[in-house]
Amino acid sequence: MSVRRLAEDQVQPAIFAFNDENAVWAEATIRKYPAGRQQSAVIPLLMRAQEQDGWVTRAAIEFVANKLDMPYIRVLEVATFYTQFQLKPVGTRAHIQVCGTTPCMLRGAEDLMKVCQHKIHHDPFALNAAGTLSWEEVECQGACVNAPMVIIFKDAYEDLTPERLEEIIDAFEAGKGDEIKPGPQIDRIFSAPEGGPQTLNDEIKPVRTNLDPQPSAEEAAAAASVPPADAARPKDTAPETDPKLKTPATAPAAAAENAKAAETQPLSGTAKSKSAPKAGSAVEGAPPEEGAVSGDLKPKRTRRKTTTEGES
Ligand code: FES
Repeated sequence: MSVRRLAEDQVQPAIFAFNDENAVWAEATIRKYPAGRQQSAVIPLLMRAQEQDGWVTRAAIEFVANKLDMPYIRVLEVATFYTQFQLKPVGTRAHIQVCGTTPCMLRGAEDLMKVCQHKIHHDPFALNAAGTLSWEEVECQGACVNAPMVIIFKDAYEDLTPERLEEIIDAFEAGKGDEIKPGPQIDRIFSAPEGGPQTLNDEIKPVRTNLDPQPSAEEAAAAASVPPADAARPKDTAPETDPKLKTPATAPAAAAENAKAAETQPLSGTAKSKSAPKAGSAVEGAPPEEGAVSGDLKPKRTRRKTTTEGES
């Protein structure tokens, strides 16, 4: 990176002024900023001065400072800080700014600078024989992912090889620079991977939504690989769950029916015990005797209870 100083006095013009078009543009630009903040227009005005004369002269710096009511040193600070401002005459058709910071250096920036030395001039900022081309090394231009790269005027040319840079320089030298597409010079979209996306390429099946067509009954049946099962149903063979019983019995007729059902048809999963305790022989609510089948107690109790109700 070279020291950024103003050009020698011999090349500095005595005065600077915007042409009519740029003068109107400058006034409109200054009016965009709030009262008391007009100095914020310093960068656009300096850039416009450079576009008018090809580089930023001392007279232009002083002109902009006067226009914005700024000390000369403040505008000089801005002009000498940004490498986008050229402080001495550069090539009239192209000034090649080669990024020489680490990522670009690792990807071949030195070879690009050799191309510039070969095709333009050995020294940076020196004009070629025709005065149409010049070059310099600059710091990172913010396109490291596509290194190495160069800046020409306001455009970046990335993913360069020495051969491609030669072609680009030749195009600008021939006045056909606008035919070169800025950006990556290889099969890359912006800063995407070379050759296209490299990740998330698998087909992602979208989650079905209620807006999607619903499967028909046949399709749903075909999709069901596991037939319905009773796996989730409780295996309850307790007598009181027998659907033949209409418990709780609340009427004599229903009680008689329950009794008949219990007499004539053993409960599922149980063996009707002939040695079951007679009604009233066991304490109600007490646990059954050892060996007794608990399922037999319910119908007995139901018959005794309903009989009592029928008598009353
Ligand atoms: S290092 Fe060259 S653009 Fe960042």
